[in-house]
Amino acid sequence: FHVTWDAEAAEKDGYDHFMLKEIHEQPKGLDETFNRRIQEDGSIKLDGIHLTKEDIEGFNKVFIVACGTAYHAGLVGKCAIENLAKIPVEIDVASEFRYRDPFVDDKTLFIAISQSGETLDTLAALREAKRKGARILSVVNVVGSSVARESDDVFYTWAGPEIAVASTKAYTTQLMCMYLIGLYMGRAKGVVPDEKYNQYMSELQDIPEKLTKLLKSESTIHDLAKELYKREQVFFIGRGPDAGVSYEGSLKLKEISYINSFAIAAGELKHGTIALIEKDTLVIALATQDKLYEKMLSNIQEVKARGAYVIGVAKEGNREIEKQADRVIYIPNCMDEVSPLLSVVPLQVLAYYIAKERGCDIDKPKNLAKSVTVE
Ligand code: G6P
Repeated sequence: FHVTWDAEAAEKDGYDHFMLKEIHEQPKGLDETFNRRIQEDGSIKLDGIHLTKEDIEGFNKVFIVACGTAYHAGLVGKCAIENLAKIPVEIDVASEFRYRDPFVDDKTLFIAISQSGETLDTLAALREAKRKGARILSVVNVVGSSVARESDDVFYTWAGPEIAVASTKAYTTQLMCMYLIGLYMGRAKGVVPDEKYNQYMSELQDIPEKLTKLLKSESTIHDLAKELYKREQVFFIGRGPDAGVSYEGSLKLKEISYINSFAIAAGELKHGTIALIEKDTLVIALATQDKLYEKMLSNIQEVKARGAYVIGVAKEGNREIEKQADRVIYIPNCMDEVSPLLSVVPLQVLAYYIAKERGCDIDKPKNLAKSVTVE
């Protein structure tokens, strides 16, 4: 009697790939990242962060630095922190920050975001900011990693181990951390009224359940992938937080399917990129922001007028988009600010199934590494 035991298959928990398993672990990761920080009285406790009210009031700027997917989490984090904490936020990729002598001093709160905590450029940028006197806060997934060890304050994402090279659950838990940091800073400064605070908290609390519901429509996205997998070019467009999600959706797709994918803030299309839109060009248009919905519908019209095939992503309450887009992926209704936590997920699932239909090595894409510890 002989039993063969495939340890890797066991770790994948019945899923074909780590990436799909990790996509499905997002409701749990987000629940952990959020609920571990909420106290009985509803206030936020940032374990690992020791910023006092005086510290927070003493900063005149936040500087977010990261690479890849973590940088994309920073783009959404910038919107959240500016909106909540009323403080200017700059953001840069680590490989630019470290070589350009940016203005950072002891009144700067430097936030490094990193899943692994070992990315060399991020670590070097952190050291440079520290040398200039900044207070260093990091948002990290791997406990005890280099970035975590060298920071003044560490805020952990409780995503659990992420194995697939293409980051999924690290991204959404990084977003959750950025909202919590923004809320915490805003509350400490007294600039977030109770009503806004309570609305944010209840919206964030509801995300895991909404995500579980959203993931039930996975087969619809799989069908869409079967229709689209032979494409060789895709454009992602969006505005505000949706622009950040567009960059991430585009990165996911190119990383694992090798499709030439490009993302741009929708309002910038007319300044050049629209020249590339012709009959049947695939455009994925994120239109989840109520405030920017009409603007996005105009952008969709612009690309449709040039013959594009448009897949819209919208909240289920906003159906007008059906008149413009060829297909629509709906996400549950939520407040504009937190929609990236939901809207990125169908894009992850779409990238996954497109890569699968193309027969790609999803968990280990060519030329990419999970953690880049070289220059
Ligand atoms: C590599 C990975 C990306 C990741 C980036 C930053 O390029 O392939 O998925 O986003 O590094 O990694 P970090 O561990 O710092 O978040």
